[in-house]
Amino acid sequence: MAKKLILAYSGGLDTSVAVHWLTQERGYDVVALTVGVGFDRDRDRELIEQRALATGAVGFRWVDARDDFIRSFAFPALAAGALYQGRYPLATALARPLIAKIMVDVAREESAQAVGHGCTGKGNDQVRFDVTTQALAPDLEIVAPLREWDMRTREAEIDYALKHNIDVPVTKKSTYSIDENLWGRAIESGPLEDPWNEPLEEAFAWTKSVSDAPDEPAYIEIGFERGVPVTLDGEQVDGVALVERLHGLAGEHGVGRIDHMEDRLVGIKSREVYEAPAATVLGCAHRAVERMTLSRAQLRLKASIAREYAELIYDGLWFTGHHQDLASYVQSTQRHVTGQARVRLHKGQATTVGAKAPRSLYATSLATYEEGDQYDHGAAEGFIHVWGLPVRVQAQTQLLAQPNDPLHIAGPDPE
Ligand code: ARG
Repeated sequence: MAKKLILAYSGGLDTSVAVHWLTQERGYDVVALTVGVGFDRDRDRELIEQRALATGAVGFRWVDARDDFIRSFAFPALAAGALYQGRYPLATALARPLIAKIMVDVAREESAQAVGHGCTGKGNDQVRFDVTTQALAPDLEIVAPLREWDMRTREAEIDYALKHNIDVPVTKKSTYSIDENLWGRAIESGPLEDPWNEPLEEAFAWTKSVSDAPDEPAYIEIGFERGVPVTLDGEQVDGVALVERLHGLAGEHGVGRIDHMEDRLVGIKSREVYEAPAATVLGCAHRAVERMTLSRAQLRLKASIAREYAELIYDGLWFTGHHQDLASYVQSTQRHVTGQARVRLHKGQATTVGAKAPRSLYATSLATYEEGDQYDHGAAEGFIHVWGLPVRVQAQTQLLAQPNDPLHIAGPDPE
Protein backbone atom coordinates (compact mmCIF):
# COMPACT_ATOMS: atom_id res chain seq x y z
CA MET A 1 0.00 0.00 0.00
CA ALA A 2 1.27 3.48 -0.85
CA LYS A 3 2.42 5.64 2.03
CA LYS A 4 0.24 8.62 2.80
CA LEU A 5 1.75 12.12 2.84
CA ILE A 6 0.14 15.38 3.96
CA LEU A 7 1.42 18.21 1.80
CA ALA A 8 1.16 21.85 2.87
CA TYR A 9 -0.46 23.10 -0.31
CA SER A 10 -0.98 26.68 -1.51
CA GLY A 11 -2.21 26.01 -5.02
CA GLY A 12 0.78 27.81 -6.49
CA LEU A 13 3.41 26.52 -8.89
CA ASP A 14 5.83 24.87 -6.42
CA THR A 15 3.26 22.89 -4.48
CA SER A 16 1.23 21.93 -7.55
CA VAL A 17 4.28 20.48 -9.23
CA ALA A 18 5.10 18.84 -5.88
CA VAL A 19 1.74 17.01 -5.76
CA HIS A 20 2.46 15.49 -9.15
CA TRP A 21 6.11 14.70 -8.41
CA LEU A 22 5.41 13.11 -5.01
CA THR A 23 2.69 10.97 -6.57
CA GLN A 24 4.42 9.97 -9.78
CA GLU A 25 8.11 9.94 -8.85
CA ARG A 26 7.87 8.89 -5.21
CA GLY A 27 4.66 6.88 -5.12
CA TYR A 28 2.96 8.65 -2.20
CA ASP A 29 -0.75 9.08 -1.76
CA VAL A 30 -0.80 12.84 -1.34
CA VAL A 31 -3.43 14.63 0.68
CA ALA A 32 -3.19 18.36 -0.09
CA LEU A 33 -3.74 20.55 2.95
CA THR A 34 -4.44 24.26 2.67
CA VAL A 35 -4.35 26.27 5.87
CA GLY A 36 -6.26 29.56 5.65
CA VAL A 37 -4.25 32.33 7.31
CA GLY A 38 -4.81 35.11 4.79
CA PHE A 39 -7.34 37.45 3.19
CA ASP A 40 -10.15 36.33 0.91
CA ARG A 41 -8.95 32.76 0.83
CA ASP A 42 -12.42 31.28 1.04
CA ARG A 43 -13.08 32.61 -2.41
CA ASP A 44 -10.23 30.54 -3.88
CA ARG A 45 -11.04 27.44 -1.95
CA GLU A 46 -12.83 25.53 -4.70
CA LEU A 47 -10.23 26.42 -7.27
CA ILE A 48 -7.41 25.25 -5.01
CA GLU A 49 -9.21 22.01 -4.21
CA GLN A 50 -9.94 21.29 -7.88
CA ARG A 51 -6.35 21.96 -8.83
CA ALA A 52 -4.98 19.67 -6.11
CA LEU A 53 -7.26 16.81 -7.12
CA ALA A 54 -6.67 17.34 -10.85
CA THR A 55 -2.92 17.20 -10.23
CA GLY A 56 -3.15 13.83 -8.54
CA ALA A 57 -3.90 14.37 -4.86
CA VAL A 58 -6.03 11.61 -3.33
CA GLY A 59 -7.64 14.06 -0.95
CA PHE A 60 -7.94 17.71 -0.04
CA ARG A 61 -8.26 19.30 3.38
CA TRP A 62 -8.96 22.91 4.19
CA VAL A 63 -8.41 24.31 7.66
CA ASP A 64 -9.39 27.87 8.50
CA ALA A 65 -6.79 29.00 11.04
CA ARG A 66 -7.18 32.75 10.72
CA ASP A 67 -8.45 33.24 14.22
CA ASP A 68 -5.74 31.08 15.82
CA PHE A 69 -3.12 32.81 13.72
CA ILE A 70 -4.06 36.26 14.91
CA ARG A 71 -4.91 35.38 18.50
CA SER A 72 -2.14 32.94 19.33
CA PHE A 73 0.69 33.98 17.01
CA ALA A 74 0.43 37.54 15.64
CA PHE A 75 -0.93 39.28 18.75
CA PRO A 76 1.55 37.65 21.15
CA ALA A 77 4.37 38.76 18.82
CA LEU A 78 2.86 42.26 18.83
CA ALA A 79 2.78 42.31 22.63
CA ALA A 80 6.40 41.14 22.67
CA GLY A 81 7.36 43.94 20.27
CA ALA A 82 9.07 41.32 18.10
CA LEU A 83 10.57 42.79 14.92
CA TYR A 84 13.34 40.77 13.31
CA GLN A 85 16.44 42.92 12.96
CA GLY A 86 14.30 45.78 14.21
CA ARG A 87 12.21 45.85 11.05
CA TYR A 88 10.41 42.70 9.88
CA PRO A 89 7.10 41.97 11.69
CA LEU A 90 7.63 38.23 11.03
CA ALA A 91 4.40 37.45 9.14
CA THR A 92 5.72 34.40 7.29
CA ALA A 93 7.79 33.23 10.24
CA LEU A 94 4.74 33.33 12.54
CA ALA A 95 2.51 31.35 10.20
CA ARG A 96 4.91 28.45 9.64
CA PRO A 97 4.76 26.81 13.07
CA LEU A 98 0.95 27.02 13.00
CA ILE A 99 0.75 25.48 9.53
CA ALA A 100 3.21 22.77 10.57
CA LYS A 101 1.19 22.03 13.71
CA ILE A 102 -2.00 21.67 11.68
CA MET A 103 -0.13 19.48 9.19
CA VAL A 104 0.87 17.19 12.06
CA ASP A 105 -2.71 17.12 13.41
CA VAL A 106 -4.07 16.21 9.98
CA ALA A 107 -1.36 13.57 9.55
CA ARG A 108 -2.60 11.95 12.77
CA GLU A 109 -6.25 12.11 11.70
CA GLU A 110 -5.43 10.63 8.32
CA SER A 111 -2.96 8.05 9.73
CA ALA A 112 -0.30 9.40 7.40
CA GLN A 113 3.36 8.42 7.63
CA ALA A 114 4.81 11.55 6.07
CA VAL A 115 4.40 15.29 5.69
CA GLY A 116 5.75 17.56 2.98
CA HIS A 117 6.13 21.20 2.02
CA GLY A 118 7.17 23.30 -0.93
CA CYS A 119 10.09 25.15 0.65
CA THR A 120 13.42 25.49 -1.06
CA GLY A 121 16.72 24.44 0.47
CA LYS A 122 17.92 28.05 0.71
CA GLY A 123 15.33 29.63 2.92
CA ASN A 124 14.15 29.89 6.49
CA ASP A 125 10.76 28.29 5.91
CA GLN A 126 12.12 24.75 5.53
CA VAL A 127 13.76 25.13 8.94
CA ARG A 128 10.53 26.32 10.56
CA PHE A 129 8.44 23.50 9.05
CA ASP A 130 10.96 20.77 9.76
CA VAL A 131 11.91 21.82 13.29
CA THR A 132 8.24 22.19 14.27
CA THR A 133 7.41 18.78 12.82
CA GLN A 134 10.37 17.20 14.61
CA ALA A 135 9.24 18.78 17.88
CA LEU A 136 5.61 17.68 17.61
CA ALA A 137 5.88 14.37 15.75
CA PRO A 138 9.42 12.99 15.56
CA ASP A 139 8.16 9.79 13.93
CA LEU A 140 6.82 11.51 10.82
CA GLU A 141 8.94 11.45 7.69
CA ILE A 142 9.48 14.93 6.19
CA VAL A 143 9.73 15.30 2.43
CA ALA A 144 10.75 18.56 0.79
CA PRO A 145 10.57 17.98 -2.97
CA LEU A 146 12.26 21.28 -3.81
CA ARG A 147 15.34 20.16 -1.89
CA GLU A 148 15.40 16.90 -3.78
CA TRP A 149 14.45 17.40 -7.39
CA ASP A 150 16.88 18.97 -9.82
CA MET A 151 14.56 21.70 -11.09
CA ARG A 152 16.38 24.80 -9.86
CA THR A 153 14.45 27.52 -11.66
CA ARG A 154 10.91 28.62 -12.04
CA GLU A 155 11.19 28.01 -15.77
CA ALA A 156 12.09 24.36 -15.19
CA GLU A 157 9.02 23.93 -12.98
CA ILE A 158 6.79 25.64 -15.54
CA ASP A 159 8.14 23.29 -18.22
CA TYR A 160 7.37 20.34 -15.94
CA ALA A 161 3.86 21.67 -15.35
CA LEU A 162 3.23 22.15 -19.07
CA LYS A 163 4.59 18.71 -19.89
CA HIS A 164 2.30 17.04 -17.37
CA ASN A 165 -0.77 19.18 -17.97
CA ILE A 166 -0.70 20.73 -14.52
CA ASP A 167 -2.89 23.78 -14.50
CA VAL A 168 -1.13 26.66 -12.75
CA PRO A 169 -1.88 30.33 -13.25
CA VAL A 170 1.63 31.55 -14.02
CA THR A 171 3.64 32.84 -16.87
CA LYS A 172 7.40 32.77 -17.13
CA LYS A 173 7.29 36.51 -16.64
CA SER A 174 5.99 36.75 -13.06
CA THR A 175 9.31 37.16 -11.38
CA TYR A 176 8.60 37.81 -7.71
CA SER A 177 8.31 35.15 -5.04
CA ILE A 178 5.44 36.13 -2.77
CA ASP A 179 4.21 34.82 0.55
CA GLU A 180 1.31 36.48 2.27
CA ASN A 181 -1.02 36.16 5.22
CA LEU A 182 -3.09 38.47 7.43
CA TRP A 183 0.01 39.82 9.18
CA GLY A 184 1.99 40.74 6.10
CA ARG A 185 3.20 40.13 2.58
CA ALA A 186 6.77 39.19 1.65
CA ILE A 187 8.16 39.98 -1.79
CA GLU A 188 11.46 38.50 -2.97
CA SER A 189 13.56 37.95 -6.10
CA GLY A 190 13.27 39.30 -9.63
CA PRO A 191 14.56 42.86 -9.88
CA LEU A 192 14.86 43.02 -6.06
CA GLU A 193 17.89 40.73 -6.19
CA ASP A 194 19.95 43.78 -7.11
CA PRO A 195 19.99 45.73 -3.83
CA TRP A 196 20.67 48.94 -5.75
CA ASN A 197 17.27 48.70 -7.47
CA GLU A 198 14.45 50.62 -5.89
CA PRO A 199 11.39 48.34 -5.59
CA LEU A 200 9.05 48.92 -8.53
CA GLU A 201 5.42 49.83 -7.87
CA GLU A 202 4.39 46.53 -9.47
CA ALA A 203 5.89 44.71 -6.45
CA PHE A 204 3.27 46.15 -4.09
CA ALA A 205 -0.30 44.93 -3.80
CA TRP A 206 -1.55 46.16 -0.43
CA THR A 207 -0.18 49.67 -0.01
CA LYS A 208 -0.51 52.81 -2.10
CA SER A 209 2.60 54.71 -3.08
CA VAL A 210 3.21 57.94 -1.20
CA SER A 211 2.36 59.93 -4.32
CA ASP A 212 -1.02 58.19 -4.73
CA ALA A 213 -1.92 58.28 -1.04
CA PRO A 214 -4.55 60.86 -0.03
CA ASP A 215 -3.35 64.38 0.78
CA GLU A 216 -5.56 64.44 3.87
CA PRO A 217 -4.45 62.36 6.85
CA ALA A 218 -6.74 59.84 8.56
CA TYR A 219 -6.93 59.50 12.34
CA ILE A 220 -7.73 56.23 14.06
CA GLU A 221 -7.95 55.21 17.69
CA ILE A 222 -6.85 51.76 18.81
CA GLY A 223 -7.68 50.40 22.26
CA PHE A 224 -5.65 47.72 24.05
CA GLU A 225 -6.50 45.48 26.95
CA ARG A 226 -3.45 43.93 28.62
CA GLY A 227 -1.45 44.41 25.47
CA VAL A 228 -4.06 42.96 23.11
CA PRO A 229 -5.79 45.28 20.62
CA VAL A 230 -9.55 45.09 21.16
CA THR A 231 -11.17 48.27 19.86
CA LEU A 232 -11.05 50.44 16.78
CA ASP A 233 -12.43 53.94 17.14
CA GLY A 234 -14.12 52.91 20.36
CA GLU A 235 -15.88 49.88 18.87
CA GLN A 236 -15.10 46.33 20.07
CA VAL A 237 -13.76 44.30 17.15
CA ASP A 238 -12.45 40.75 17.13
CA GLY A 239 -8.82 40.19 16.14
CA VAL A 240 -9.21 39.10 12.53
CA ALA A 241 -11.74 41.85 11.76
CA LEU A 242 -9.52 44.45 13.40
CA VAL A 243 -6.54 43.39 11.30
CA GLU A 244 -8.66 43.38 8.14
CA ARG A 245 -9.94 46.89 8.80
CA LEU A 246 -6.54 48.32 9.65
CA HIS A 247 -5.12 46.61 6.60
CA GLY A 248 -7.47 48.59 4.38
CA LEU A 249 -7.12 51.91 6.22
CA ALA A 250 -3.35 51.89 6.51
CA GLY A 251 -2.77 50.44 3.05
CA GLU A 252 -4.79 53.29 1.55
CA HIS A 253 -2.34 55.75 3.14
CA GLY A 254 0.73 53.82 1.99
CA VAL A 255 1.67 52.73 5.52
CA GLY A 256 3.70 49.57 6.12
CA ARG A 257 6.23 49.24 3.30
CA ILE A 258 9.52 47.81 4.55
CA ASP A 259 12.63 47.37 2.41
CA HIS A 260 15.09 45.19 4.28
CA MET A 261 18.54 43.64 3.85
CA GLU A 262 17.89 40.52 5.85
CA ASP A 263 20.12 37.87 7.37
CA ARG A 264 18.62 34.45 6.83
CA LEU A 265 19.17 31.68 9.33
CA VAL A 266 20.91 29.63 6.63
CA GLY A 267 23.63 32.28 6.36
CA ILE A 268 22.53 34.18 3.26
CA LYS A 269 21.91 37.91 3.09
CA SER A 270 18.70 38.53 1.22
CA ARG A 271 16.85 41.58 -0.09
CA GLU A 272 13.34 41.36 1.35
CA VAL A 273 10.51 43.77 0.77
CA TYR A 274 7.42 43.62 2.95
CA GLU A 275 4.01 45.16 3.15
CA ALA A 276 2.55 45.02 6.63
CA PRO A 277 0.05 47.85 7.05
CA ALA A 278 -1.93 46.42 9.98
CA ALA A 279 1.14 45.14 11.84
CA THR A 280 2.86 48.51 11.42
CA VAL A 281 -0.05 50.55 12.78
CA LEU A 282 -0.67 48.16 15.66
CA GLY A 283 3.02 48.13 16.59
CA CYS A 284 3.07 51.91 16.65
CA ALA A 285 -0.06 52.12 18.82
CA HIS A 286 1.05 49.36 21.19
CA ARG A 287 4.43 50.98 21.82
CA ALA A 288 2.66 54.24 22.66
CA VAL A 289 0.52 52.60 25.37
CA GLU A 290 3.57 50.74 26.71
CA ARG A 291 5.58 53.95 26.96
CA MET A 292 2.90 55.31 29.29
CA THR A 293 2.42 52.24 31.44
CA LEU A 294 5.85 50.61 31.78
CA SER A 295 8.70 51.97 33.85
CA ARG A 296 12.07 52.86 32.38
CA ALA A 297 13.60 49.61 33.63
CA GLN A 298 10.72 47.54 32.26
CA LEU A 299 10.99 49.23 28.87
CA ARG A 300 14.73 48.64 28.80
CA LEU A 301 14.62 44.94 29.61
CA LYS A 302 11.60 44.38 27.41
CA ALA A 303 13.46 45.83 24.42
CA SER A 304 16.15 43.18 24.77
CA ILE A 305 13.55 40.45 25.31
CA ALA A 306 11.84 41.68 22.13
CA ARG A 307 15.02 41.10 20.15
CA GLU A 308 15.43 37.61 21.60
CA TYR A 309 11.77 36.85 20.93
CA ALA A 310 12.02 38.01 17.33
CA GLU A 311 15.04 35.81 16.65
CA LEU A 312 13.34 32.83 18.24
CA ILE A 313 10.33 33.25 15.94
CA TYR A 314 12.53 33.86 12.93
CA ASP A 315 14.65 30.82 13.70
CA GLY A 316 11.73 28.40 13.87
CA LEU A 317 11.89 27.81 17.63
CA TRP A 318 8.22 28.45 18.47
CA PHE A 319 7.64 25.15 20.25
CA THR A 320 10.42 25.42 22.83
CA GLY A 321 10.81 25.97 26.55
CA HIS A 322 12.76 29.14 25.83
CA HIS A 323 9.69 30.52 24.10
CA GLN A 324 7.46 29.59 27.05
CA ASP A 325 9.78 31.48 29.39
CA LEU A 326 9.95 34.59 27.20
CA ALA A 327 6.17 34.50 26.69
CA SER A 328 5.61 34.40 30.46
CA TYR A 329 7.77 37.46 30.89
CA VAL A 330 6.00 39.33 28.10
CA GLN A 331 2.57 38.43 29.43
CA SER A 332 3.54 39.69 32.86
CA THR A 333 4.71 43.02 31.41
CA GLN A 334 1.33 43.51 29.74
CA ARG A 335 -0.83 43.48 32.88
CA HIS A 336 -1.22 47.27 32.88
CA VAL A 337 -0.88 47.83 29.13
CA THR A 338 -4.51 48.84 28.81
CA GLY A 339 -5.38 52.10 27.09
CA GLN A 340 -5.83 53.92 23.80
CA ALA A 341 -3.52 55.31 21.18
CA ARG A 342 -4.50 57.80 18.50
CA VAL A 343 -2.60 57.28 15.27
CA ARG A 344 -2.35 59.55 12.24
CA LEU A 345 -1.99 57.83 8.87
CA HIS A 346 -0.52 60.08 6.25
CA LYS A 347 1.66 59.67 3.16
CA GLY A 348 3.31 56.40 4.14
CA GLN A 349 3.70 57.20 7.83
CA ALA A 350 1.85 55.99 10.90
CA THR A 351 2.49 58.40 13.77
CA THR A 352 1.14 58.21 17.28
CA VAL A 353 -0.31 61.60 18.10
CA GLY A 354 -1.95 60.82 21.43
CA ALA A 355 -2.18 58.16 24.09
CA LYS A 356 -4.01 57.55 27.35
CA ALA A 357 -4.18 54.74 29.86
CA PRO A 358 -6.11 54.33 33.13
CA ARG A 359 -2.95 53.14 34.89
CA SER A 360 -0.59 55.49 33.14
CA LEU A 361 2.64 56.33 34.96
CA TYR A 362 2.60 59.75 33.35
CA ALA A 363 1.48 62.40 35.88
CA THR A 364 0.84 65.92 34.67
CA SER A 365 1.30 67.16 38.24
CA LEU A 366 4.92 65.99 38.06
CA ALA A 367 5.65 66.82 34.43
CA THR A 368 4.07 70.26 34.18
CA TYR A 369 5.91 73.57 33.85
CA GLU A 370 2.70 75.37 34.70
CA GLU A 371 0.46 75.86 37.75
CA GLY A 372 -0.06 72.80 39.94
CA ASP A 373 3.49 71.47 39.81
CA GLN A 374 4.01 69.00 42.66
CA TYR A 375 7.56 68.04 41.86
CA ASP A 376 10.00 68.85 44.70
CA HIS A 377 12.60 70.99 42.93
CA GLY A 378 14.74 71.36 46.04
CA ALA A 379 15.12 67.60 46.41
CA ALA A 380 16.77 67.40 43.00
CA GLU A 381 19.95 68.94 44.37
CA GLY A 382 20.44 66.22 46.99
CA PHE A 383 19.65 63.53 44.43
CA ILE A 384 22.26 64.89 42.02
CA HIS A 385 24.83 65.13 44.80
CA VAL A 386 24.52 61.41 45.55
CA TRP A 387 24.06 60.35 41.90
CA GLY A 388 27.24 62.19 40.92
CA LEU A 389 29.30 60.92 43.86
CA PRO A 390 31.04 57.99 42.07
CA VAL A 391 31.56 60.18 39.01
CA ARG A 392 33.37 62.81 41.10
CA VAL A 393 35.53 60.21 42.80
CA GLN A 394 36.60 58.61 39.55
CA ALA A 395 37.20 61.91 37.77
CA GLN A 396 39.47 63.11 40.56
CA THR A 397 41.47 59.91 40.93
CA GLN A 398 41.70 58.73 37.34
CA LEU A 399 40.36 60.93 34.54
CA LEU A 400 41.89 64.25 35.56
CA ALA A 401 45.06 62.60 36.78
CA GLN A 402 46.05 61.39 33.30
CA PRO A 403 48.11 63.73 31.14
CA ASN A 404 45.74 63.64 28.11
CA ASP A 405 43.11 66.22 27.38
CA PRO A 406 40.07 64.99 29.38
CA LEU A 407 37.88 65.75 26.35
CA HIS A 408 39.52 62.77 24.66
CA ILE A 409 37.73 60.20 26.72
CA ALA A 410 39.20 57.31 24.73
CA GLY A 411 42.74 58.67 24.44
CA PRO A 412 45.85 56.49 24.04
CA ASP A 413 46.38 53.92 26.77
CA PRO A 414 48.73 55.18 29.47
CA GLU A 415 52.09 53.36 29.44
N1 ARG B 1 12.25 36.36 4.59
C1 ARG B 1 10.99 36.14 5.22
C2 ARG B 1 11.12 35.05 6.25
O1 ARG B 1 12.02 34.28 6.20
C3 ARG B 1 9.89 35.88 4.23
C4 ARG B 1 9.97 34.60 3.49
C5 ARG B 1 8.94 34.54 2.46
N2 ARG B 1 8.79 33.24 1.91
C6 ARG B 1 8.57 33.01 0.65
N3 ARG B 1 8.39 31.77 0.31
N4 ARG B 1 8.55 33.95 -0.25
O2 ARG B 1 10.30 34.96 7.12
